Amino acid sequence: MVKRWIKGGLRGALRVARPLLLAGAAITVGPAHADPAQQGAIPWWQSAVVYQVYPRSFADSNGDGVGDLNGITRHLDYLKRLGVTVVWLSPHFDSPNVDNGYDIRDYRKVLAQFGTMADFDHMLAAMHARGIRLIIDLVVNHTSDQHAWFRKAVADPASPEHDYYIWRPAKPDGTPPNNAPSFFGGSAWSHAGAGNDEYLHYFARQQPDLNWDNPAVRREVYDVMRFWLDKGVSGFRMDVIPLISKDPAFPDLTAQQLADPAAAYAHGPQTHAYLGEMNREVLSHYDTMTVGEAIGIGDNEDALFTAPARHELNMIFHFDASNVDRDGWRPRAWTLPELKARYDHLYAALGDDGWTATFLGNHDKPRAVSHFGNDDPRWRVLSAKALATMSLLQRGTPFIFQGDELGMTNFPFNAIGQFDDISARNLWHDEVDGGHVTAAEMLAILRKTSRDNARTPMQWSADAGAGFTTGHPWLAVNPNHTAINAAVEARDPASVLNFYRRLIALRGRAPVLVRGDYHDIAPENPDVYAFTRNAGDDHALVVVNFATHPAEVALPAGIRLKNRLIDSGGGLPAPVGARTIHLQPWEASVYRF
Ligand code: GLC
Repeated sequence: MVKRWIKGGLRGALRVARPLLLAGAAITVGPAHADPAQQGAIPWWQSAVVYQVYPRSFADSNGDGVGDLNGITRHLDYLKRLGVTVVWLSPHFDSPNVDNGYDIRDYRKVLAQFGTMADFDHMLAAMHARGIRLIIDLVVNHTSDQHAWFRKAVADPASPEHDYYIWRPAKPDGTPPNNAPSFFGGSAWSHAGAGNDEYLHYFARQQPDLNWDNPAVRREVYDVMRFWLDKGVSGFRMDVIPLISKDPAFPDLTAQQLADPAAAYAHGPQTHAYLGEMNREVLSHYDTMTVGEAIGIGDNEDALFTAPARHELNMIFHFDASNVDRDGWRPRAWTLPELKARYDHLYAALGDDGWTATFLGNHDKPRAVSHFGNDDPRWRVLSAKALATMSLLQRGTPFIFQGDELGMTNFPFNAIGQFDDISARNLWHDEVDGGHVTAAEMLAILRKTSRDNARTPMQWSADAGAGFTTGHPWLAVNPNHTAINAAVEARDPASVLNFYRRLIALRGRAPVLVRGDYHDIAPENPDVYAFTRNAGDDHALVVVNFATHPAEVALPAGIRLKNRLIDSGGGLPAPVGARTIHLQPWEASVYRF
């Protein structure tokens, strides 16, 4: 069986501030709490804390049940108060929404449901006024099949646009050009137009892959990038970027490759040549932050994308750690030492100069607290704080997915009809309708793993529409919004939200937590994740108990504990000089030593 994807299933103005001229007014964009004296030469994208907004589900300003840009603008003071310095906006472009915006019809137009270009400009100016930068999603491995390029390509095989896509003749027996599977089920080839040719689509058949070997395609992409950078966006999250280059021979995948198609697709011959060119042509002319979604890429290959001397990207998302609980689309049991080993491997590969993005959630994952923490009401708040401590204080630029700062949980799905996501629906079709898995088993799996868990509306208040909408939400609001919401949490000093605020502020004050090196001091400890961050004479120790029982960690010689900097609520601080730290269930603390 081919492993498929429910995402995750596959496996400068250095320093702080730079003036930007927008609409005639000079403004300063940079980390709000940055202290230039302390931060030295840390690039802004390293000291940044990024917040991912999934616009469809963030805030609906006009009551149509779909989030929009004006909704985001209304909540910028919330983000400012949280302390984040960069927003990553998932696709906001015109799209038929087969894959919720990751199928773009027009790269220079705002999706009508989300608003207008004027709304975008207003949102961006309002972000800059608060010292928040914006990065947007660059989805250029593929377009929508509704994009004007693809329509022309299909209508006229002699048009220049035909060569914007990848066409190969079907085999004489009518089967596809090769055995490549789509991540969303079935073959990666479909037929369109007259003649025998099929086009490549690694995702849905409505997402045809662009032909990056055509220099005209690359020029178009660079123009799109300049268009948004000239508006004042500060960079890009690059969707499935390792997939852009293909082996033009399209050999069949081997049995081994079929077990992990992402790894097979992610190693095209020209990827780095194209990223280098993109950097030369576009990125090097602006002060940007770039983060690649590195599906199919092993830790050891990180430097190929991110080593500063190579001039490609600033950082990439690695999925090895966050996929520890998954085997393709099936959940798998995991242990804490295993998770730690995956991080250790990544940091060892990165070395002291390497940089990465740290994250536990995004729009392609279930809710972090429901898969790495414990969303039982007894443990939800504590485990959400523990995960935040681990993820925000690791070495890298932390990314927070909307709602994780509230400890939002998975949704209690109980029927396939409740799912919107194309990958869940296609998987059901192939596996349940195909008679391989029972409906009950698949429902249990999707309840744990589905991307829709992360896509339910943001929980702003206990109101009927969770303060997300006054209308009928496009995806059901989690019934637990009456208890878990921003309004309640803002008032509660012990809430997940207020802990995130304190943690982000702590990271902003302590350069060691940004640039310090990373060292796991207890890799075999089954309950406690304990790592140090060290920069010169500055040392911090992060300890997180992943168990629902008290646990302890012995400190190696050389660590002489000083004061506790933050604690998720629970135990007394370990005394100065203690040799062992005792932690309450799911307690997380940070010490200086
Ligand atoms: C990316 C996106 C995901 C999308 C896919 C195809 O991984 O994060 O949501 O389905 O690419 O664009």
